Amino acid sequence: MEYKNLLIDVKDQIAILTINRPDKLNALNKETVVELRTAFEALGSNKDVNVVIITGSGEKAFVAGADISEINKLDMLEGKKFSEFGQSVFSLIENFDKPVIAAVNGFALGGGCELALSCHIRLASENAKFGQPEVNLGIIPGYGGTQRLTRLINSGRAMEMILTGDMIDASEAFRIGLVNKVYPQSELMNKAWEMASKISAKGQLAVRFAVQAVNVVDEVSSQQGQNIEASLFALCCGTEDFKEGTSAFLEKRKPLFKNK
Ligand code: COA
Repeated sequence: MEYKNLLIDVKDQIAILTINRPDKLNALNKETVVELRTAFEALGSNKDVNVVIITGSGEKAFVAGADISEINKLDMLEGKKFSEFGQSVFSLIENFDKPVIAAVNGFALGGGCELALSCHIRLASENAKFGQPEVNLGIIPGYGGTQRLTRLINSGRAMEMILTGDMIDASEAFRIGLVNKVYPQSELMNKAWEMASKISAKGQLAVRFAVQAVNVVDEVSSQQGQNIEASLFALCCGTEDFKEGTSAFLEKRKPLFKNK
């Protein structure tokens, strides 16, 4: 499928999805968000894809936010629809059962920071900058940022970012747990690929159940979460991959997973 604002490259069971509007610092216009939804629906059913990496085109920006030229025209009702639509697409990414890694290669502002937050793992280049500058525009984050940022880095830090609109650099993002690792820009995609390959070599049913189990943590009580974990663990025990993984360990050989 051809996209206007996305590039998708699938190789060795890993999809690299690049937001491709470099002249606008990869700002998310409506068309791009619609394409993101279509792309994730297609990647979800693509049997050749185990892991997705999201990055931005060029060396300057991951995504510099929602497209301000479109936001500028919203009235109240349209603002609600705008927010709800973006939230639904980012929730689709968060709830995607194949792992999604954000390779944040520059500015991740507003909707760009929120896009990174909806991914399962965040890696960043040394030049990356994170921020929720919406208050500078007279709005608040609308693609889930008030919720995901607060859950990830605690309310005091999230309040500071959201209320001041200040950007933080990659080392500060690492220090406060917003990103897992920071690399020189020239190494970022290789490192993201390495991590994706490592995950892709595991039994994919277990990987997907693990994503689902971790993702329910904010939705349910601890006991309900553990019940879900037990059910997903039980499902793993019914797979061929489980027999293969455990047998391979006991036979001192490498497992050959079939994702069955
Ligand atoms: N929406 C629409 N266009 C955007 C954009 C956005 N969020 N972010 C950047 N652009 C456009 C600029 O308008 C400019 O377009 P032009 O060349 O047609 O004028 C182009 O991208 C390059 O951006 P520019 O501002 O010239 O680059 P810079 O290096 O001087 O500054 C930023 C980089 C990221 C600091 C600055 O672009 C910025 O503050 N962007 C908005 C960030 C924001 O508020 N995001 C939240 C939106 S809800």
